[in-house]
Amino acid sequence: FVAKRLAGRKVVLTAGPTFEAIDPVRGITNISSGKMGYALARACAQAGAEVVLVSGPVALPVPAGVRRIGVAGARDMRDAVHAALPGADVFIGVAAVADYRPLEVAEHKMKKKDGILTLELTQNPDILAEVAALPDAPFCVGFAAESRDLDAYAEGKRQKKRLPMLVGNLVQDGMGSDDNVVVLYDDAGRHPLPRAPKTELARGIVEHLAGLLEAAGR
Ligand code: PMT
Repeated sequence: FVAKRLAGRKVVLTAGPTFEAIDPVRGITNISSGKMGYALARACAQAGAEVVLVSGPVALPVPAGVRRIGVAGARDMRDAVHAALPGADVFIGVAAVADYRPLEVAEHKMKKKDGILTLELTQNPDILAEVAALPDAPFCVGFAAESRDLDAYAEGKRQKKRLPMLVGNLVQDGMGSDDNVVVLYDDAGRHPLPRAPKTELARGIVEHLAGLLEAAGR
């Protein structure tokens, strides 16, 4: 980075999957590797920001200049985000948060039984929607991972959560891999970024974010 465009700003990000326990040895999770979120945390730190990365369980090194807080379930992630938020100028939700968790977590390892096992699931909090609705909300950037109709779903999520910026991607393009193809959505429309390594895309996302912050006079 030539310009430290986020100097003096505090950025809180979420990354990776969440892990929703079923019993002491099992859980529900997804294939997010954390690579996109970690690359973005690194790019924010390189742009001069103070960075707190709230991360689900992934095996990635912590980028230089980033404070990482490890969490498992969506509710732990939400608590860690709220603890990190005071003083934050920007919140970026990169994590693939499980929308549901088992209603009950068994205290002991569940025993195998014959026949069908039914798990009851209950809804998790939407961390990004909660942060965006705070009276003193930071500048919120969402992500949307879709398997089809990216423009319609991504822009729909941006509008619903009232986000100034959202990064859309197709699951088959970027979930788990080193490269990605993303489209940035904001009030001015859609801005596609061509396929590139996530480290490079992260710099493009930070440049766009810094421009919007400056334009908004924040
Ligand atoms: O980790 P990688 O392998 O590098 O893959 C990157 C990625 C595909 C996970 C990433 O680029 C991405 O798209 N992250 C968002 C994934 C997602 O599932 O989004 P969503 O459409 O379910 O959620 C929309 C937004 O709300 C996201 O910013 C999400 O973090 C947030 N959210 C969703 C549900 C919830 N309960 N809480 C949230 O904060």
